[in-house]
Amino acid sequence: MEKLDNVIEINHPLLQHKISILRDKNTGTNEFRAIVEEIAMLMGYEALSDLQLEDMEVETPIEKCMTPVIAGKKFAIVPILRAGLGMVSGLLALVPAAKVGHIGLYRDEKTHEPHEYYCKLPEYIDERLIVVTDPMLATGGSAVAAVNFIKEHGGKNIKFMSIIAAPEGVRRLHEAHPDVQLYVGHIDRELNDDAYICPGLGDAGDRIFGTK
Ligand code: PRP
Ligand code: URA
Repeated sequence: MEKLDNVIEINHPLLQHKISILRDKNTGTNEFRAIVEEIAMLMGYEALSDLQLEDMEVETPIEKCMTPVIAGKKFAIVPILRAGLGMVSGLLALVPAAKVGHIGLYRDEKTHEPHEYYCKLPEYIDERLIVVTDPMLATGGSAVAAVNFIKEHGGKNIKFMSIIAAPEGVRRLHEAHPDVQLYVGHIDRELNDDAYICPGLGDAGDRIFGTK
């Protein structure tokens, strides 16, 4: 698809290899879940390259010094339920002090429009870097609804992380929220008539949680 500002497709070979394992319909729940976590960690390394730092005093075996550490209080992870939950532990492994909010959305099977059923964000959301996680960006309806909600609650510095996206969803999120940086593992070909990503990996929530 065309190149868009603020859309960052991460082409690292380790990431592409792991995405191929997720695509395989024979990959079982255990492995699928573990790889989603690993991918979140790899993507997080890239997406969090501008995390805020603060100086801390440390005494080395030689002398005292001021040395930078992550200002963890300023970072929040917000998964879109359910599938986005699978990416949280990978990001928490990188920033254990991060706060975690939750946005519950499900897609109507016929209209494919998102319906909200739960939302809870950490306090001082306006001061935080917020990373929204969802492995799948399909029509973009859920992503746009989640970012709308976060902005209504004061969130300003928002990134969105998805493992696989459809061009339709990338464009929709970018048009609605051009300020939001989108980190994506792979942009696939298209959506099918049921608004599933092709070739995609199927239903991410069902594959992470072993439902269906
Ligand atoms: C999936 C996925 C996204 C959404 C993407 O969730 O995890 O949240 O669909 O589709 P969209 O871009 O067209 O909105 P789903 O609604 O199936 O809920 P689940 O995670 O609870 O299975
Ligand atoms: N949600 C999924 O889990 N997979 C898709 O392909 C589209 C939406």
